[in-house]
Amino acid sequence: MANWNRRKIIVPSAEMAAEHRLARTLSWPHLIALGVGAIVGTGILTLIGVGADKAGPAVILSFAIAGAICACAALAYAEMATMIPASGSAYTYTYVVIGELVAWVIGWSLILEYSLVVSAVAVGWSGYAAPLLQAALGVPMSVMQGPALGGVANLPAILIIAVVAGLLIVGTRESATLNACLVLVKIVALAVFVAVALPYFNAAHLHPFAPFGFIKATGPDGVERGVMAAAAIIFFAFYGFDAIATAAEETKNPSRDLPIGIVGSMLVCILIYVGVAGAAVGAIPFTSFAKSPEPLALILRELGQPKAATFLAASAVIALPTVILAFFYGQSRIFFVMARDGLLPGSLATVSARGTPVRITLFTAVIVGAIAGLFPLDEIAALANAGTLAAFVAVCACMLIMRVRAPDAPRTFRTPAAWFVGGFGILGCLYLFASLPAKTQGYFVVWNALGLAIYAATGARRRTIAID
Ligand code: ALA
Repeated sequence: MANWNRRKIIVPSAEMAAEHRLARTLSWPHLIALGVGAIVGTGILTLIGVGADKAGPAVILSFAIAGAICACAALAYAEMATMIPASGSAYTYTYVVIGELVAWVIGWSLILEYSLVVSAVAVGWSGYAAPLLQAALGVPMSVMQGPALGGVANLPAILIIAVVAGLLIVGTRESATLNACLVLVKIVALAVFVAVALPYFNAAHLHPFAPFGFIKATGPDGVERGVMAAAAIIFFAFYGFDAIATAAEETKNPSRDLPIGIVGSMLVCILIYVGVAGAAVGAIPFTSFAKSPEPLALILRELGQPKAATFLAASAVIALPTVILAFFYGQSRIFFVMARDGLLPGSLATVSARGTPVRITLFTAVIVGAIAGLFPLDEIAALANAGTLAAFVAVCACMLIMRVRAPDAPRTFRTPAAWFVGGFGILGCLYLFASLPAKTQGYFVVWNALGLAIYAATGARRRTIAID
């Protein structure tokens, strides 16, 4: 533990040993596609139902609050990503700016975030895929739902994780290009949803607007509800832009490509969500879709538009894997960088002849597949959010610390009104964390206690990085 406050020095990629270097194949259109591919997913397609259950029609407000907080974090990310264009995102920024122990906690939180997002989106995918598989192939529901819904294991969720792992092993460039095509499918599907649902908008469905109040409160059924409780879950819908920052070492021109990729994809997504959420709660009473595993398809069916519903469900099935892909990609890179730094077993930090870390990808697939097969969506998503919120607080803090420590260092991208944006980002994330279910907060503490125990036990291991 003697070195808990050591700080990492970034080694230029060109000076790294060849087997530790990732190939530079991506530019900003790939990154915006990677960003939108990572951001638009199960949050808007499925968790909108969980959010409506917790906030009522005021889920629109929950979207706005979570989006505003995420936008602040996105700006801090863009500044840090261009100052420190190296793989590892929040983990690497914290290692450089704050020190090893905090970096370990953030890296450990990111592993939680990325793994659980892969699992959660696979479960969300299965929600849309299962009815189609049942109709087309007669597959019984009992093998397509996890224990929470009375099934044995969520086999479609496990299957999609295996397919995405295979894609990543084939190669990053190919995967990013396929990703760009699938992102288009997703955007068109959501545009069709808004176009079909908006003519049915009925202002009466918005009253009462916030039936469960604003601040998190436990109802008679033991469920924690309120606009903020919904925002703490809906927050899931907004992140993903940080997956772009993890691609820094594989970006051709990081100082130009990263800010465009991060801020651009965030703005596109905020616009899409406001449109979809408004159309959804205006179309039918929120109670009718709040508990559905495929709420947007259900709304379209309720409106008497079964063809549009099938189109939307099929598009989700085709395109949701882009989210799994982006987070899987980010997760394997976090593992890779932590292993390369010596904080995780070094044998994980080897790449294949094609420049992809095969062993980590396979290891990750087994873990996230098991979680997706067995656990319910809202619990997985809430815990993923806890990990993400920790990382966002760290990134905002790093941005502000660097403004004090190195105010004149060159910055390709400067966060506007940095102290307001950074401060709002930190406080907003802490408030969202406080609004998560108490059970989730408990799991998060246990996860980090485990992480710290591992750090203490392996702290004497020889680091492989340059430090100051
Ligand atoms: N923002 C991503 C989603 O909603 C994680 O699926």
